[in-house]
Amino acid sequence: MHFELTEEHKMIRDTARDFAQNELLPGVIERDTHEKFPAEQVKKMGELGFMGMMVDTKYNGSGMDTMSYVLAMEEISKIDASASVVMSVNNSLVCWGLEKFGTEEQKEKYLKPLASGEVIGAFCLSEPEAGSDATSQRTTAIDNGDHYILNGTKNWITNGNSASVYLVMAQTDVEKGHRGINCLIVEKGMEGFQVGKKEEKLGIRGSDTHSLMFTDVKVPKENRLGEDGFGFKFAMKVLSGGRIGIAAQALGIASGSLEFATKYAKERKAFGKPIIEHQGVAFKLAEMATKVEAARHLVLKAAWLKDQGMPFDKESAMAKLYASEVAMYASVEAVQIHGGYGYVKEYHVERLMRDAKITQIYEGTSEIQKIVISRFLANE
Ligand code: CAA
Repeated sequence: MHFELTEEHKMIRDTARDFAQNELLPGVIERDTHEKFPAEQVKKMGELGFMGMMVDTKYNGSGMDTMSYVLAMEEISKIDASASVVMSVNNSLVCWGLEKFGTEEQKEKYLKPLASGEVIGAFCLSEPEAGSDATSQRTTAIDNGDHYILNGTKNWITNGNSASVYLVMAQTDVEKGHRGINCLIVEKGMEGFQVGKKEEKLGIRGSDTHSLMFTDVKVPKENRLGEDGFGFKFAMKVLSGGRIGIAAQALGIASGSLEFATKYAKERKAFGKPIIEHQGVAFKLAEMATKVEAARHLVLKAAWLKDQGMPFDKESAMAKLYASEVAMYASVEAVQIHGGYGYVKEYHVERLMRDAKITQIYEGTSEIQKIVISRFLANE
């Protein structure tokens, strides 16, 4: 057992760090203020190979491992969690799912442009009345010969307007419960598919979150992912991996908060010395650093398990649960250490604090992660 990153991993982390510092940091406050999608920056992330990191090179991906993905996610999330959620959804919910469960034709048609970052994808599970209780899908996909007729509404969809390809969960056979759910690949522009209102959010304000409406959308049968009725399992499997990505995002928000707060505490003087020399501040930083390191270990362990082809569902839930708590904790402390400066936009930490909250909610709330973890304990 060793804890040293490989030279390749260090290179990927450093590339992501440079990108975050040089390309994301300069406009991040403006994008957050005006809820502006980071289109240019996402395009550059595609050029760097960050939009399909784990996808095989034969499908235009970067052919990297999950460890590389979480290292890049942490660096990007330190600065811009709006950009990193676009990256995370595209990588782990859309590309990974298509590569693992898609047909060769689906990979050629949809995965290739998604993995290169030419287009963006969205994952559509949540509904007005189906969030945590994800089996209660009201959206229907009625079997109609060579196609399905899709009707319903999806809520809080990340990349809702900027995406071109949507993985949509819908109920085909109500009698079969969750075993009657399918996942369909829906293209923007299909007749009857409408992007609804954009949500005004507390955090990750640069990412575009929308409701989506489907009215008698004809989706060809060849656009179904997996066997008939595989949709719910597909969503669960994909979300297990996705939770590693969101855990890495939360870790980045936490470690970014620590970095901003440490820098500030070294520069800011009060009562005749830098505030880092006051124990009240120094101890806060020590606790933040310890929790950040613990979260990093959980995130890397979950990523490593996935790369080894070993079960990782429990560990990804643990990583997300803990890293998102640390993101909240560390970002609140970072604001406190900054005092009045922490409460204004210029010093970045108030944004990190607002961005942190969503990591306890999306891709399964903290309570859902506890359900997943405790079910493992009950059955071990
Ligand atoms: N892998 C494979 N199959 C799984 C699975 C997994 N990880 N977890 C559950 N399943 C299967 C079960 O085996 C079961 O199938 P069978 O009956 O055939 O055995 C089926 O799924 C239903 O499972 P449960 O009976 O456990 O269902 P449940 O309703 O009791 O609970 C849950 C499931 C874990 C609570 C689940 O509903 C869940 O994870 N909810 C949260 C949903 C969520 O994370 N939403 C996030 C939205 S996406 C998002 O946020 C993206 C974004 O924009 C950033």
